[in-house]
Amino acid sequence: KKAKMILEKDYKIAEVDKRIFGSFIEHLGRAVYGGIYEPGHPEADEKGFRKDVINLINEIGVPLIRYPGGNFVSGYNWEDGIGPVEQRPARLELAWKTVEPNYVGTNEFMEWAKLVNSEVNMAVNLGTRGIDAARNLVEYCNHPSGSYWSDLRVSHGYKEPHKIKTWCLGNEMDGPWQIGHKTADEYGRIAQESAKAMKWVDPTIELVACGSSNRAMKTYAEWEATVLDHTYEHVEYLSLHTYYGNRDNDLPNFLGRSLDMDYFIKEIIATCDYIKAKKRSKKTMYLSFDEWNVWFHSNAADRKLEPWSIAPPQLEDVYTFEDALLVGCLLITLLRNSDRVKIACMAQLVNVIAPIMTDNGGDAWRQTIFYPYMHASVYGRGVALNPIISSPKYDSKDFTDVPYLESTAVYNEENEELTVFAVNKDTEASLLLDVDIRGFVGYQVVEHIVLEHDDVKATNTAAHPHSVVPHNKGGAAAKDGYIQASLPKLSWNVIRLK
Ligand code: AHR
Repeated sequence: KKAKMILEKDYKIAEVDKRIFGSFIEHLGRAVYGGIYEPGHPEADEKGFRKDVINLINEIGVPLIRYPGGNFVSGYNWEDGIGPVEQRPARLELAWKTVEPNYVGTNEFMEWAKLVNSEVNMAVNLGTRGIDAARNLVEYCNHPSGSYWSDLRVSHGYKEPHKIKTWCLGNEMDGPWQIGHKTADEYGRIAQESAKAMKWVDPTIELVACGSSNRAMKTYAEWEATVLDHTYEHVEYLSLHTYYGNRDNDLPNFLGRSLDMDYFIKEIIATCDYIKAKKRSKKTMYLSFDEWNVWFHSNAADRKLEPWSIAPPQLEDVYTFEDALLVGCLLITLLRNSDRVKIACMAQLVNVIAPIMTDNGGDAWRQTIFYPYMHASVYGRGVALNPIISSPKYDSKDFTDVPYLESTAVYNEENEELTVFAVNKDTEASLLLDVDIRGFVGYQVVEHIVLEHDDVKATNTAAHPHSVVPHNKGGAAAKDGYIQASLPKLSWNVIRLK
């Protein structure tokens, strides 16, 4: 099969907001305790943070991390996580049925985020709490000093304000599983009033309102329209969440799921723009896809866990090679929508549905999905180009016209580097790709990275951490203004040119 693509410097989608390569750490399972924080571990620093985990995160380059939840935030009293650690309460954590010891709270997390060179996207609890707790947290974190909450922060040893710019107004408030679940009107009102108070404390912050928990929610789209009716002029972003699985072991259909993400984004853009029209607003609403990933492998194991322990192994999906292919497709989809998607968070970062896994007291390693995420983050900074693509297509159980080629390109004007990201979804054969780059005079292939594997179910584990790793022996070559590449069947490709 053959596919074609045309790239031109002037065919632009947008400057990629680096926050599109964000991630997420929730107080859930072993993400915090046993993940980023494990005092006594041979790799722990003097604060208890694992340096091996920090190094792996820095390899990816994660510019933004959402914290502390997720479902967790809807029952969280942020005041439990500040001040002397020995005085902090252990609480029953109702979202995940665990005990939260509060050894790590806001200040510890902010310190850790500096070690991974990341900004924090802080979520406030609009489930069991509301306006008051939200505005107090902004004051505690961002106000310099001279008020009750800011002085309390100073007394806790943090003289400088944390200057947190991006804040989430609750989490998945449309979901009946959420602590303090609300109707769209109830949520829209509390989000609007919290937004006002939070911005009165610090007018420089940006806010994310909750959209639907996924595209299959009964209240889908109506929820967004109602919430935005209340909040449109008070927030900068609307959130989207989605998780995909290959439960019926149908790989062509599974790889078609990036189309679902694309439809989701397009439908939410339409809904935002409808409210913009209704309000005759000059403002454009941007999207924060602040939870996305593959999540299904661990569902059965999680159902067997006994409640009320500290940091049990929850949501520990062991990712396969085929999961990495879908993650690559989802990253390409986000880049192709980067004119409206300004924030995106792979959910999550360590141990919990994560690219990085650890053993308590043992090693840290890269899951299969680590690689496309790392490649996109490292090489996907710059201008997202608008490629003209023609590709053969297939139909699957849930989708029609799935292109075998999922691809896009980013041009880094500063380094004058062009990177093509491409997935060949064909389970049988390689795909011959021809890319017209006549506008990029003299460009040559620097390297062609390929992630491929004979076994679609191959995984990386503590015992075999390097079963699925990329190589850079792909044969892409540039000649007379065209790149010619053979993309192996079922492969993730990064073709770098300069
Ligand atoms: O990321 C895991 C969970 O998925 C989050 O806590 C919640 O927001 C979503 O349902």
